[in-house]
Formats: sequence, C-alpha cells, structure tokens
Amino acid sequence: MTDPGQRLRSSLAADQSATPAVEFDSPIAMEALRATRVLHAADQEPFPAPGRIRVITIANQKGGVGKTTSSVNLGVALALYGLRTLVVDLDPQGNTSTALGVDHSVGTPSVYDALVGDSSLAEVVHPTTATPLLSCVPATIDLAGAEIELVSVVAREYRLRRAIETYLQELPPERRPHYVLVDCPPSLGLLTLNALVAGDEVLIPIQCEYYALEGLGQLLNNIDLVRRHLNPGIAVRTILLTMYDGRTKLADQVAEEVRKHFGSLVLDTVIPRNVRVSEAPGYGQSVVTYDPGSRGSTSYVEAARELAQRGVTLPPLPSRPTPGTPVAAPLRAAFPDTDGGTVPVPPSAEERS
Ligand SMILES: Nc1ncnc2c1ncn2[C@@H]1O[C@H](COP(=O)(O)OP(=O)(O)O)[C@@H](O)[C@H]1O
Ligand SMILES: [Mg+2]
Repeated sequence: MTDPGQRLRSSLAADQSATPAVEFDSPIAMEALRATRVLHAADQEPFPAPGRIRVITIANQKGGVGKTTSSVNLGVALALYGLRTLVVDLDPQGNTSTALGVDHSVGTPSVYDALVGDSSLAEVVHPTTATPLLSCVPATIDLAGAEIELVSVVAREYRLRRAIETYLQELPPERRPHYVLVDCPPSLGLLTLNALVAGDEVLIPIQCEYYALEGLGQLLNNIDLVRRHLNPGIAVRTILLTMYDGRTKLADQVAEEVRKHFGSLVLDTVIPRNVRVSEAPGYGQSVVTYDPGSRGSTSYVEAARELAQRGVTLPPLPSRPTPGTPVAAPLRAAFPDTDGGTVPVPPSAEERS
C-alpha cells in the first residue's frame, strides 16, 4: 500500500500531468488551465449520477475538522460536474450558507422554519451564487434555540427526514437533486440526531492533526444506535482526510492510522491544508469558485469525483422500523433529548400542513 502522502502527491501530479507541457510550462499558466478545467467541468466530463438519491450526513462532533468546508466544496464540485445538489445547513452559525453566498440574516426562511415551524423544505430552499445546479437551505441564528424547542415537537427525531422526503417526492423527477448534503453542528444533540435519521449515509471528515480520532468512538457508537433503533439505512460510507500538511510526519501518521482502521471507506484523495480554502468563505465563496486552480479546489473536485464514482452502485436501503417499537435505553443514554418511549410515528402530510 502506498503511503497517504505519496497518494496525495500522485493525485496532484495526475492533475498536472494531463497538462500539455509545452504551451503550459509556467506554474501560473498551469494553474489557469486547471481553473478553466474546473469551471467548465460539466462540458467535458460530468460525474456519473448515483444509483439512487444520496442523502449524506456530514458529521463529526469535533469542531473545526472541515465539515462545513467539505459540505460546501463537495456540493459545489458535484454541481459543477453536472449533478443537482442540495446542501442543508444545520449549524446555527450558518457558515455553509455564508460560503454559498446565501443570506442567513434573521427573518430569512431557513431550516429552522422546516424543523420547528410548519414550512416545507421547498419554501426554504434558496438558489446559490456558486452554480445553477446547487441550492441551499440556509441556517439562521434561530436554529440555536431549536435543540430546546424541538423537545416538545411530535416525532422530533424525524423532522428533517420527513421534510427532505416530502421535498423530494413533490419535485418532478428531472428536478430532484442527485445529492443532498447535510452539514451538522459540532455536537451530538437533537440537530445532529435529526441529520443522522435523515441521512442514508454518513461522511466523516477527519483532520490530519493530533487528537483526530478522539471522540470518534462515541460518534460511531451513536451512529450504530441510530441505525439499530431509528434509521436502519444509516451507515458510515465515506471518510475524508482534511487539512493534510505534507510537511509534517504527524499528518502521515494520522492518515495511516485512519486508513488502517477504516480501510476502503477512506477516500484516496486527501484534502491538503491550503490557505485559499480558508480565505474563500470571507468572500462568500467556496474555494472551488474562489480559486479553482488552487490545490484546495482541485483536491475537493477529486474527492467529489471519487464520491460520485463510488455512488454509482449502492446497496438497497432496508425498511424503516415500525412506529411504536420501544426505543432502547442505550439510545436514550446517548441522546438524552429523545422522547425515549417508542419509535415515533412520522407525521403525516396533513399533520404537517
Ligand atoms: N483544507 C483546509 N486548508 C486550510 N484551512 C481549512 C481547510 N479546511 C478547513 N479550513 C479552515 O478551518 C476552519 C474550520 O473548518 P470548518 O469546515 O468550518 O470545520 P467544521 O465545520 O468541522 O467546524 C475554517 O476556518 C476553515 O476555513
Ligand atoms: Mg461547521
């Protein structure tokens, strides 16, 4: 097995080796060419559509590991390469909304209105400035109170799932997104629980730094509980290594350990630490649109390509648990805010309207 650093270097080299060396022999020209490739991507080689609509929950209760950056940039890359994508911002900080150029000031119709209020998702979906195939459900600061407000809401764990399901059903097939990415807050409360119940799979970004694996056991344990008691389809399908710094031994060690533990779930592409990635949100942009030829951008495009290729064949989803089944004590212990009695009956369309 090649080492992760080597893999990263060859992934970047592969990107450059396709460049005609004679006309494009300066770094700037090469970067410009890469940028053109990224921005006119769909004309050249669209990504393959997934076997079914993929609802991917991007979770890790640690903050600052790249959940938001990955939701934004994978979303933009998938859409630029021809796949309709919806990004749901489930973090009250609203950083995903900012990076996608979507207003999230107080009063903007947002995910809060669909989770706690009576709005349908269709009423709170906004177009993005990034690319036409990408839309976003923004998060406003109202969402900060949602964890508490949801406690008294019927079928509180299912709110997001029902909202997404109804939204998808009501759209004509040719307008349904291929991908729905849900960006979680850095905690394991009711918002993240909603995201884990809503998703069919989890993508965990792991930062190539000290303590990268800390808390991961708890996350995996909670995902397992959700799978056993609320959402049998949920599974960790993708691990993305982020903020890789090739100059440090540590980054390689972390990457190696993650690969040893998670095997083929880990994408070959590693996201390097790149200053353009951290600058982009300040301009209300993803790095893919802000500096398409940068390493941050091209590696997110590569990661999205891998994600799309792996999504062509997916296992069928199991059926959902019967409402009324007792929710086990371990789930209550992991998520103290669940009602903890029985699996709730998802609200019907009439109840919600
Ligand atoms: N590959 C990267 N290179 C440099 N900075 C990054 C990279 N990925 C994320 N960052 C920066 O790190 C910070 C945390 O990332 P973020 O995606 O917000 O994490 P999370 O959503 O998990 O809290 C942000 O300031 C972001 O701009
Ligand atoms: Mg975030």
